[in-house]
Amino acid sequence: MLKIGVLVSGGGSNLQAIIDKIESGYIRNVEIVTVVSSKPGVFALERAKKYGIEGTCISRKFFNNIDEYDEALIGHFVEHKVELVVMAGFLSILGERFNKYYTNRVINIHPSLIPAFCGKGFYGIIPHRHVLESGVKVTGATVHFVELEADTGPIILQKAVYVEEGDTPEILQKRVMEQAEWEILPEAIKLFAENRLVIEGKKVLIKKTAPVLSAASKKYSI
Ligand code: GRF
Repeated sequence: MLKIGVLVSGGGSNLQAIIDKIESGYIRNVEIVTVVSSKPGVFALERAKKYGIEGTCISRKFFNNIDEYDEALIGHFVEHKVELVVMAGFLSILGERFNKYYTNRVINIHPSLIPAFCGKGFYGIIPHRHVLESGVKVTGATVHFVELEADTGPIILQKAVYVEEGDTPEILQKRVMEQAEWEILPEAIKLFAENRLVIEGKKVLIKKTAPVLSAASKKYSI
């Protein structure tokens, strides 16, 4: 059973998408053991509570520096035996210690086709505003492994969404969530749980079946 911890900061629609895919049996052998919000009272915590998932708020503002915040988050996830951390609309920053401890075990959903419309300051509705201002015809969402620099880790899955005449940032955001985010984030978790993701440099290979760990070589043979 893969134990996952989900980091949230707002409405939790991506968290809901994960819960729904687990409840439906599409994702198997995965358990959300904790939901951590960077802000108190967000609807994402209500969603967790409704499914009996322990939710808590660990806010950056109660810590003196990023290292202490990292340590608090690591301590919480270790206590819950979390093996994969999922950032689902998490708006706080994870520092070096967190990234070092959970190397290649943190994934994030970003509302654009990285490397477009991403990086510092591109979160929530903002990427969609830039998409409309730029006149591009296609946008979408990306799930990637997290590295220290925002939105730079190896890309796991992407899904494209057409920009339509008359789109506002809000309309476009909703379509990207419905058509892309709520599909590819659960799918990435399923692939991780099935041990089908192999990172090679900046690339992520998706294997048809889990690689076999040969006892002798202690390496995956594909
Ligand atoms: C989503 O658009 C996600 O791509 C971005 O923040 C938003 C979170 O929405 N990272 P929700 O809290 O999952 O509803």
